[in-house]
Amino acid sequence: MALLGILLSPWLAVAIPVWLSLYYIFPYFTTYRHLSRIPGPWSAKFSNIWVGLGARRGQKYAAVDSAHRKYGNVVRIGFNHVSIADERALNISHYYEAFVARTPGMFNVRDRAEHTRKRKIISHAFSPKSVAAFEPLMAENLQRWTAQLDRIAASEPQQNEKHFVRFNAMPWLSYLAFDIIGDLAFGSPFGMVNKGKDEVETQLVPGGPISYTPAVEVLNRRGEVSSTMGLLPSLRPWARYLPDPFFTKGIAAVENLTGIAVVAVASRLDAAEKGTAESRNDILARLLQARDADGQPMGQDELIAEALTQLIAGSDTISNTACGIFYWILHGERGAPGTIVSRLQEELDQAIDPKSEIASYSEVRDLPFLRRCIDEAMRLHSTSALGLPRLVANNGAGIRFDDYYFPPGTVLSVPSYTIHHMQEIWGHDVEEMRPDRWLDLSARQKAAFNPFSYGPRACVGQNVAIMELQLIIGTLFHRYEFVLYQPTIQSHEGFSKKPAECHAGILLRNRA
Ligand code: HEM
Repeated sequence: MALLGILLSPWLAVAIPVWLSLYYIFPYFTTYRHLSRIPGPWSAKFSNIWVGLGARRGQKYAAVDSAHRKYGNVVRIGFNHVSIADERALNISHYYEAFVARTPGMFNVRDRAEHTRKRKIISHAFSPKSVAAFEPLMAENLQRWTAQLDRIAASEPQQNEKHFVRFNAMPWLSYLAFDIIGDLAFGSPFGMVNKGKDEVETQLVPGGPISYTPAVEVLNRRGEVSSTMGLLPSLRPWARYLPDPFFTKGIAAVENLTGIAVVAVASRLDAAEKGTAESRNDILARLLQARDADGQPMGQDELIAEALTQLIAGSDTISNTACGIFYWILHGERGAPGTIVSRLQEELDQAIDPKSEIASYSEVRDLPFLRRCIDEAMRLHSTSALGLPRLVANNGAGIRFDDYYFPPGTVLSVPSYTIHHMQEIWGHDVEEMRPDRWLDLSARQKAAFNPFSYGPRACVGQNVAIMELQLIIGTLFHRYEFVLYQPTIQSHEGFSKKPAECHAGILLRNRA
């Protein structure tokens, strides 16, 4: 009753507009007056609602891209947020906090010194030597995966020589990517490939009851809600009370995901204490061995946060990218038959042992055409599409870029999808899958290729990512033939840009 009284109070009718003008309109004329000449959607000048709604629909990259096409390379997309579609701006963080479930991990910690401390400890796990040691674990998962794909390919009787069996590559790539990162970051695969199902064992507290979580779905939901709240941070305290289930389910997803890490880290620590831990060459082992500058290991909460960070950063980024590459290779081939798949297969056939079911890293690591296909498709798909926002430091003098001045507190982002799709950078055939453009890249194109971001917060796992993609794509096109049924690729964007589905026909190759 009391709440109803407040809501119906005439004071509220006055207080809300006053609050809105103080909160949104006053800064427009004061703190952010330097941004007033920057063009952009009208509503974006006063609030982050325009960009937040784009994120809520899972289409922020598309909204920002069309705003750039309409207003130019520098666009105001929020009251204090400017998007710069210019590769030079790559070298220049309320956002990160939206991802925190309990203890912040490397990705979402805001404090610079703390980030540097974590990054120093963790980057050892991703040195070229460590990464090469992950191969046997990746190989076991790939073996299980090809066994499942073989089963699918043989699931309908061969009526003629080229009888393709229809399947959706997206969920299968998710099962593989989750199992691999589960194996690397938590000590065992989640078992999704074997089950052919999105299901993972979860425990909210060590020793608590076990439940089953659809991890791929949970991760997507979490990515969508976190990237929306990252852009609308004032929503954060209220999000769980909003009537939109998008927010309530997303918040539950953050908790569920933490539960996945809790079980794995607790059982590994337990085994280490009892001396029963098997020796494994994985990311969790490196995190357990890691010491900071004072020789201290990470505590359990920090370990959980870091293992979780690896799961979040290294699962759907891989499956979404691999699916994008799979689609673009087949789409490019459909548009210009004989220009991509046959060349790729010829290169793979020469490098990979014909008796082997899967590719090995040494066989595919240096294959030039495979790498050109991966890079070109990463450009076209742009998994990390949204250009993660960076805050102009509050204690500095602001930033100048060309004739613009961005005061402290301004949020800047460089939209990777847009700079990957700009005709002025990539030429008239920008929308075409043309792996050979990588034979002769201009300096500008090189600088604008931004799949893993730049600077101290760039992807620490990019060596693992490239290795995994080479193994997956190399194995797929060496072992199978495909025909693409998917007319175009539709994507939904949370933290990363996920293909909705990718239907293709699969057939075991006859390499005789
Ligand atoms: C193709 C797959 C991948 C893509 C496209 C990708 C992309 C990115 C991008 C763009 C960032 C920077 C985010 C920012 O600007 O703040 C990032 C950060 C990160 N990535 Fe990746 N990533 C991929 C795979 C992986 C893998 C496999 C791992 C681990 C096994 C990983 C671990 C991380 C971590 C821990 C960070 C945070 C780094 C920090 O804040 O210092 N990523 N990734």
